[in-house]
Amino acid sequence: MKREEWKSRYGFILAAIGSAVGLGGLWRFPYVTYENGGGTFLLMYFFALFTAGIPILILEFTVGHRFKGSAPLCFYKMNKKWEWLGWWQIFISITIAIYYSVVIAWAVSFFFYSFGLSWGENTAIFFTDSYLKITNSPFELDGIRSNVAFAVTSVWILTCLIILVGIKKGIELANKIMMPLLYLIILIIVIRGFFLPGAYIGLNMLFTPDLTKFLDASAWVDAYGQVFFSLSVAFAIMITYGSYLSKDSDIINNSFITAFMLTTFSILSGIAVFSVIGFMTYESGGNVPDKLSGIFLAFATIPKAINQIKPFGNIIGVFFFLAVIFAGLTSQISIVEAIVSSLIDKLNRPRKVITSFFCIFAFLLSLFFTTGAGLYILDIVDHYINNFGIVFVGLIEVILLGWFFDIKSFGSYANGVSDIKIGKWWYICIKFITPSMLFVTILYNIYNEIINLYGGYSLKALFLLGWLVALLVLVLGILLAKINWYDESMLERNI
Ligand code: ALA
Repeated sequence: MKREEWKSRYGFILAAIGSAVGLGGLWRFPYVTYENGGGTFLLMYFFALFTAGIPILILEFTVGHRFKGSAPLCFYKMNKKWEWLGWWQIFISITIAIYYSVVIAWAVSFFFYSFGLSWGENTAIFFTDSYLKITNSPFELDGIRSNVAFAVTSVWILTCLIILVGIKKGIELANKIMMPLLYLIILIIVIRGFFLPGAYIGLNMLFTPDLTKFLDASAWVDAYGQVFFSLSVAFAIMITYGSYLSKDSDIINNSFITAFMLTTFSILSGIAVFSVIGFMTYESGGNVPDKLSGIFLAFATIPKAINQIKPFGNIIGVFFFLAVIFAGLTSQISIVEAIVSSLIDKLNRPRKVITSFFCIFAFLLSLFFTTGAGLYILDIVDHYINNFGIVFVGLIEVILLGWFFDIKSFGSYANGVSDIKIGKWWYICIKFITPSMLFVTILYNIYNEIINLYGGYSLKALFLLGWLVALLVLVLGILLAKINWYDESMLERNI
């Protein structure tokens, strides 16, 4: 079966940017920057981007382009014994797709609520008690919330339809529509935000440097974590997207463009979100609002600010949640495509069949996150999959490719098709800097787990929903690699 290809370079770049720009850039970046020393964090972010993000992105595009396959197939083609690494990444992606769809679904609901500001005055209570109807603990499910489940269904139907259609007419087209609109929307919010009274207070909060943070390990860990999640590296996506590039498509330039566009978007989001926070601070006579991080920033604090923006606050609300939907959907599509493409390679069944089965399966699992305990389960699973799944798999990937494969051949391959050439910088990053930083990150994360129980949850909850899930994705990856490829001709090397 011939592998589908992107229709145009522009289409591919938009899809790669679409994958990168997601919930991570839209609202995680603003608060992580704020919490980790503002301007100082930006420097750390750039350091992480140039020493890990871009080098790995170039590596993953090159792997996909050269071996023409989904992540498991590419790893298999490099070395039969490495297939499990691809499946490990796929199971991480499956986990993320399952809960990521739920967050997009919340945004769908809030998009509709924005028109009439239906969340009322106490937005935090509205989110937790009226909308999610959360229970008291991660094990108290108390049934599916039909309003949330309904929104989740719509997200899965849309995702499924886009992936069903394929690369050019599905993914590429969806990104060509949503991404330009997303940049336009964020610009509109930035401009409106800029003219709000007190916006400068927020921008000072966001950008004022705190030089002591350079010595704070957790800020560095956050910078690397942000770059990994945001650039969508180490969860099979960019390998898959690279595999749909035509023979002499540029790799290095495209990687830089993707990283540049992501960073621009993230900084614009920071400006948008913090102008609004500055405005709230100003309106309340200098009190900085609480709940400036995590899910609550988007679903409680921003709605509260929208209530106060006059006139047309609701329009800003509509735009903001539409931005969350577009940013989220384009990333969700890339995550699901990475999974679907690996199953097509392995089972050699039509895209339509695999996509439909997978989406129904993942949708059913998403329903767990629509129960009364959904928010807790999401919080725990997300924490462990990010801090132990992605970081670990990223470390193994750079060690195997950097040290146990002919890494120079990747460099020359990428240089062979690209306008800009890479040299020593790239090899040093892949072989030394990235593995060292990821190793330190893992040690730091483990230390953190030992000294405190994440989020104040019980040990049982963290073990069953966190550690066990992080371990399960690895075990399932290893098991799947043991199953034979349906069509062995797929495995011939085509370097
Ligand atoms: N890169 C995507 C995000 O940042 C997964 O949300």
